[in-house]
Amino acid sequence: MRILVTGGAGFIASNVADAYVQAGHEVAVVDNLSSGFRENINPKARFYEQDIADPKVLDIFADFKPEVLNHHAAQISVPLSVDDPRGDARVNVMGWLNLLEGCRAHGIKRVLYVSSGGVVYGDPEQLPADETFPIRPESPYGIAKATGEHYLHFYSRQADFTYVTFRYGNVYGPRQVPHGEAGVVSIFIQSLMAGKAPTIFGDGSCIRDYVFVGDVVRANVLALGKGENVAVNIGTGIPTDVNQVYQAVQAAMKNQTPALSGPARRGDLKAIYLNASLAEKILGWKPEVRFMDGVKKTYEYFRDKAKGV
Ligand SMILES: NC(=O)c1ccc[n+]([C@@H]2O[C@H](COP(=O)([O-])OP(=O)(O)OC[C@H]3O[C@@H](n4cnc5c(N)ncnc54)[C@H](O)[C@@H]3O)[C@@H](O)[C@H]2O)c1
Repeated sequence: MRILVTGGAGFIASNVADAYVQAGHEVAVVDNLSSGFRENINPKARFYEQDIADPKVLDIFADFKPEVLNHHAAQISVPLSVDDPRGDARVNVMGWLNLLEGCRAHGIKRVLYVSSGGVVYGDPEQLPADETFPIRPESPYGIAKATGEHYLHFYSRQADFTYVTFRYGNVYGPRQVPHGEAGVVSIFIQSLMAGKAPTIFGDGSCIRDYVFVGDVVRANVLALGKGENVAVNIGTGIPTDVNQVYQAVQAAMKNQTPALSGPARRGDLKAIYLNASLAEKILGWKPEVRFMDGVKKTYEYFRDKAKGV
């Protein structure tokens, strides 16, 4: 298949693009390198350095003629979206609409869209959250992700393509940048590698659903052929708090440096984790990598990178 991967210089989508290339697909990457890196782009993929918020992105559809669009490019910072909702919407809403116009104009067959299970459900009363929970985003980033789901549904009817929306938990793993929704694993690893004690904000009891990037990649591969016009959670269903993340990082690195403590951050959700049984039913997807193993793999990646391996 000819697959256009947006954000393919970034953490998650570069891993997805690698898997698509590995599976023999023809891949093109669109990225403006605002948070991604050229070195992450698969050398067998065609690369378009382009801002998706610029309507020129439509030309790429005419040039590459993709059958599938896999959309990961985004402004990924929740705090930035709070400070600048219009800047967030420029990329996460208007950029997405440009791509959907490309899909409509060029007869795309299938779209995989990335939303966020960490933000679209807001602060639910019960957990784990499943896909029937009300959509109640509490940040402009979450509003944009949820709005994107509605636009996708609208365009799929207009343009007669099928889609799967992924609502990811907190994705972690090799190539993760130390910001964004789930940067804490890589922040802890990179600060200990630099010989510095990281800071845990508040009492470290904020709970998230940490899912390894290799498992997320598998969902992106499975969804090329399964799932019709549906949104699925992609998470482990296992609640993990920040103190447990730090303990896992300390164990993986065999480093007992105690963390510093800082003030609780305003606006952090207390707890979110996801029921992903719909993804199992529809895609045959289940997470396979245990948290401790994933943290170890992530540490090994950063350690080898620092050594230039
Ligand atoms: N990391 C997580 O835990 C998580 C959780 C839920 C959802 N997501 C979503 O997954 C996707 C990938 O996130 P990531 O963690 O890999 O982040 P990332 O920052 O590593 O990747 C995003 C990529 O998009 C590119 N990009 C940003 N703005 C662009 C623009 N205007 N035009 C073209 N390219 C642009 C960046 O350069 C980068 O390569 C995003 O849509 C994010 O919202 C991530």
